[in-house]
Amino acid sequence: MRTHYCGEVDEALVGRRVVVCGWANRRRDHGGVIFIDLRDRAGLLQVVADPERPQVFALAERVRNEFVLKVAGQVRLRPEETANPDLATGQVEVVCEEMEVLNESATPPFQMDEDDVHEEIRLRYRYVDLRKPRMLSRLTTRAAVARALREFLDANGFIETETPMLTRATPEGARDYLVPSRTQPHAFFALPQSPQLFKQLLMMGGLDRYYQITRCFRDEDLRADRQPEFTQLDIETSFMDEAGITALMEEMLRRLFSKILGAELPDPFPRITCAEALARYGTDRPDLRIPLELTELTALMAGVEFKVFAGPANDPDGRVAALRVPGGARLTRKEIDDYTGYVGRYGAKGLAWIKCAEPARGRDGLQSPILKFLPDDVIAGLMEKTGAAEGDLLFFGAGRRGIVNDSLAALRVRVGLDLGMAAAGWRPVWVVDFPMFEWDRRERRWLSPHHPFTAPRSDDPAQLLNDPGGCLSRAYDVVVNGVELGGGSIRIHKREMQQAVFEVLGITRREAGEKFGFFLRALEYGCPPHGGIAFGFDRMVMLMTGGDSIRDVMAFPKTQTASCPLTGAPSPAAPAQLGELHLKLDRQT
Ligand code: AMO
Ligand code: AMP
Repeated sequence: MRTHYCGEVDEALVGRRVVVCGWANRRRDHGGVIFIDLRDRAGLLQVVADPERPQVFALAERVRNEFVLKVAGQVRLRPEETANPDLATGQVEVVCEEMEVLNESATPPFQMDEDDVHEEIRLRYRYVDLRKPRMLSRLTTRAAVARALREFLDANGFIETETPMLTRATPEGARDYLVPSRTQPHAFFALPQSPQLFKQLLMMGGLDRYYQITRCFRDEDLRADRQPEFTQLDIETSFMDEAGITALMEEMLRRLFSKILGAELPDPFPRITCAEALARYGTDRPDLRIPLELTELTALMAGVEFKVFAGPANDPDGRVAALRVPGGARLTRKEIDDYTGYVGRYGAKGLAWIKCAEPARGRDGLQSPILKFLPDDVIAGLMEKTGAAEGDLLFFGAGRRGIVNDSLAALRVRVGLDLGMAAAGWRPVWVVDFPMFEWDRRERRWLSPHHPFTAPRSDDPAQLLNDPGGCLSRAYDVVVNGVELGGGSIRIHKREMQQAVFEVLGITRREAGEKFGFFLRALEYGCPPHGGIAFGFDRMVMLMTGGDSIRDVMAFPKTQTASCPLTGAPSPAAPAQLGELHLKLDRQT
């Protein structure tokens, strides 16, 4: 049917007859001649219909945007003044000898070059949206990324293995998607939040090296980088420690970035402890392109009278910190007010600041509404600690540690980007030495920051039980330009330790037996030391294609309310179907 893709027709084909198929991107009538830009996945091609072929011309007059056409004709050079240097095919055009309208199209919901189309509309008409060159290009890159990862892992002895979708709840900390069983009344499958337990069982099964590019399901609050179903590159190995696994994964990422983007990643990646990342950047996902850091001021502010600072400085769960912005003194009041509003979104009650005109002159060289609340020695201490220089601006966060960290971390990135301070390129970093457990103040119990199968640094279960808060885990996260790309750990491979972790987490023996009995039993039958990692595949592609939402690199993503505007899922089920599943709807609610 077709001899060439539209986007492939170039000067080399001048004088040849080609047959091309595609969508009418645009039709222009030019004093008796009709031009149609025909589009397929390879690009655009100009097709010319002239009145000398009345049949073709009449057809061309009927063509509207997004009609599907088949065109046969000779390739010719365009007159120089009409050539389009922006188009790969811009030097040529096809003189239409035959045209067939393969299908008509209703008026498209948006134009191909329209930029601010509401996402809901884009998703409802995703099949039209996907025709946009940038969408096609992202999906093509996505496929190339998957291929490059498979090549690397295959070459390194990893065995690609599928794991069940209909399974038991897996504890990654989100809500499960449940699937009712028809054959076993009132029993439910859970869709996997990750293949975590299965990949560990595969290590017990002796596979030694496993990987899978697989779908995971988490019913959680959605954001730009979170979807209810998303894809992981999931990996597990036996008989390797942190150093071995992270080195191999770095190598994989270096090859990947080099192959797909021609970009060079550092060798080795830098490492930072979780505690240091929180102290310096306010987050365990630091964007190292931004050359701004926080300064700890909690101790310095403990004795001041200014309640905004003294309160948190004397609260064991509080923090006072500064963000020094070199050259920031030129920010206007309005800009500072905007940043105050911005940190408010993260729970900050305000955003104190000091402009440093001439810090050498002490308080006289500074400008700030809070100066009057701070004694000379504190001002001197704070200038010294932050290293503030002429022309700098200091922002301050004071309050609950979590809020100060979240708000200053976000402010750091926002200000850095706004002031054009972000370095170009890729800044990966391993974040290590996470706490094994975190105290949940609201629920008053210990939680796993990763998952309960992560090994502690200590080999002694008793130590874990005695001092949960003092234990570090053997987990590692890899963060690139502020995006948490992946996370993993060395796993527990002894039953006794696994049981101790469940105990700290408040999972009773009975509960553990009910939920994870199969897994605890498996640990007794010769479980090798093992560990692994999972990468957010969608995030990886988002990062590599320069996007800011993973929805843009998924063919059919869901909205913020976890629904699909295209198919209308989720949708009500018929009573008969519910009956088969032994379910009844409560009409009241
Ligand atoms: P974790 O829960 O950290 O680890 O997930 C691994 C990576 O998956 C990505 N990710 C997501 N991407 C899109 N939408 C989501 N809702 C979403 N949730 C997570 C992130 C994250 O770094 N089983 C462990 C891994 C292991 O220990 O080997 C796990 O799933 O990029
Ligand atoms: P106030 O005493 O509330 O008028 O605040 C005095 C200054 O401190 C103002 O510049 C506020 O923006 C700032 N501020 C108030 N609360 C906080 C906070 N939690 N963290 C940082 N700055 C704050």
